[in-house]
Amino acid sequence: MTGQQVRDIVTDCQFEGDMKFMEPMSRHTSLKIGGPSDIFAIPENFASLGRLHDYLQKNDIALFPLGSGTNILVKDGGIQGAVICFSSFRKIEPAGEDGEYAYLSVDSGTVLQRLVMHSREQGYAGVEGLAGIPGTVGGAIWGNAGSFGYEIKDVLVSVDMMGAEGRIQKVRAEDIGFGYRKSGILPTDLLLRAELKLRKDKRDEVSARFENFLKAKREKQPIWESSAGCVFKNPEGLPAGKLIDEAGCKGMSIGDVAVSTIHANFFINRGKACAADFIRLMHEVAGRVSSTFGITLEPEIKIVGRDNGNG
Ligand code: EPU
Repeated sequence: MTGQQVRDIVTDCQFEGDMKFMEPMSRHTSLKIGGPSDIFAIPENFASLGRLHDYLQKNDIALFPLGSGTNILVKDGGIQGAVICFSSFRKIEPAGEDGEYAYLSVDSGTVLQRLVMHSREQGYAGVEGLAGIPGTVGGAIWGNAGSFGYEIKDVLVSVDMMGAEGRIQKVRAEDIGFGYRKSGILPTDLLLRAELKLRKDKRDEVSARFENFLKAKREKQPIWESSAGCVFKNPEGLPAGKLIDEAGCKGMSIGDVAVSTIHANFFINRGKACAADFIRLMHEVAGRVSSTFGITLEPEIKIVGRDNGNG
């Protein structure tokens, strides 16, 4: 794809917003790793997003919806096609009440912690266990983010999604096919908005639970370092972090990627890490866990993009 082609797209679909060409994904991921995306689009409104979506599908250009890149590893060759960023869509609005429940309508680009703080201020219970999880509401729903026994699916009523031909459709939570850290939402379905159902509670009780969860997270996880959260899923009944730790991998490194010495299921970018080294370290760690315990670890982070010959 060339710069001229990108300018043509802006004109042809009357794009409103910001569109960049060959944008380094290392600027848009918490790991600070990732080669360039052909197109990086930040539509300003849903109508513009709809026209772009339609154009990309008709012209067979792949699209990749991006939250805030906190649970992905983008390979060194970057992302083919168009990355769509939802940062213009960040509204949280009341959507009614029903006895002891309050409903919120939340745009998918809303930072998850803004939702958590909003609920805390209002005294709404249900998302305080998500304290400290980075990323957007859309990304959290796509991957069914959770911690401390809380999962976002448990407070979700429905989502508005843009599918083929830019059509917007409401899908109920029970039809989304949620599982442990996953949903049935296709990568080509764009999540626009979600309706959430939260329980009205005492403000100081929600607040106290929030503080405890955040404190526990700060003590156990290196949340101040560049990472993508937990690298592997927890196998049935056994925490991956414990297995990696007991297999002797804490502190192991390849290039600038290291297994955290605080929590072994976090890999840290110490500076100039590349995706190829990250993937090599994943293989090395999974290999050690497999040979020590006979357990196969599965990635929790999503690995996306194209190789650039290094990996
Ligand atoms: N442990 C070790 N060594 C380590 C790390 C952990 O021995 O290096 C032990 C701990 O001592 C504890 C057990 O492993 O006994 C479990 O550790 P922890 O309580 O930290 O929870 P976890 O199972 O590792 C899960 C989620 C986290 C979530 C926390 C809190 C997964 C893969 N991990 O971690 O989610 O924040 O519970 O609820 O489901 C994420 O999804 O990115 C993530 C970090």
